Amino acid sequence: MKLIVTPDTLQATATAAAIIAETLSAEPASVLGLATGRTMEGVYGHLVRAVQSRETSFSEMTSFNLDEYVGLSASDPHSYRHYMQEHLFDHVRPDPARVHVPCGAAADLDAECAAYEKAIADAGGIALQLLGIGNTGHIGFNEPPSLFDTRTRVVELDDETREQNASMFGGDADAVPSRAITMGVGTILDAGRLLLLATGRVKARIIADALEGPVSPQVSASAIRLHHDVTVILDEDAASNLS
Ligand code: F6R
Repeated sequence: MKLIVTPDTLQATATAAAIIAETLSAEPASVLGLATGRTMEGVYGHLVRAVQSRETSFSEMTSFNLDEYVGLSASDPHSYRHYMQEHLFDHVRPDPARVHVPCGAAADLDAECAAYEKAIADAGGIALQLLGIGNTGHIGFNEPPSLFDTRTRVVELDDETREQNASMFGGDADAVPSRAITMGVGTILDAGRLLLLATGRVKARIIADALEGPVSPQVSASAIRLHHDVTVILDEDAASNLS
């Protein structure tokens, strides 16, 4: 595992963005795994500026997002599809046919999950998977316990996760959907390279658990330590509980 600790959040998000841009420069048709959440807003900001200054391009890439809330349609302003349009896709103009976010409003959710797994396989697998980490230790929405061979499926969100994400729903945790579609831990571990980014003191405890505690389904993010090509980027605050 390669660990990069930066002095501040801006440099952490810039470092993550630079790795994504380098991946696209080396192979413009790369298959990227993308994440949402507050941490990633900075990363996408850097990437939008890189596209605007023609340092990189998303025109040939394919992407698969990690997760989506069940019950929210693509047009819902709280959906992760909407988040991706707002923070990245509307600015970098990928081929819409190559952009994938699970459909949380699908009538048959199990069929949607199976189709998502097949679409990833048909695209040749994910080359680079971007990951954040939740307070419960989730990657994607793999709440504990999540076995390391899990695939894309519907999960119940922990109350702690709904609290964590309440700010995106007007501060009301009850307004956060209780279920989500998420890539499984096994789906994530199949990616060629993992890039986990965490910033802020609020992430320090769970980062220490994930990187230095037991490798266990009780902390989904600890699974990344089983992967052969992992880069973890932290700012000093997020790294502050590491020994
Ligand atoms: C979102 C996702 C989640 C977030 C995590 C951290 O697509 O996969 O695992 O990365 O909940 O969220 P923030 O960055 O809001 O703290």
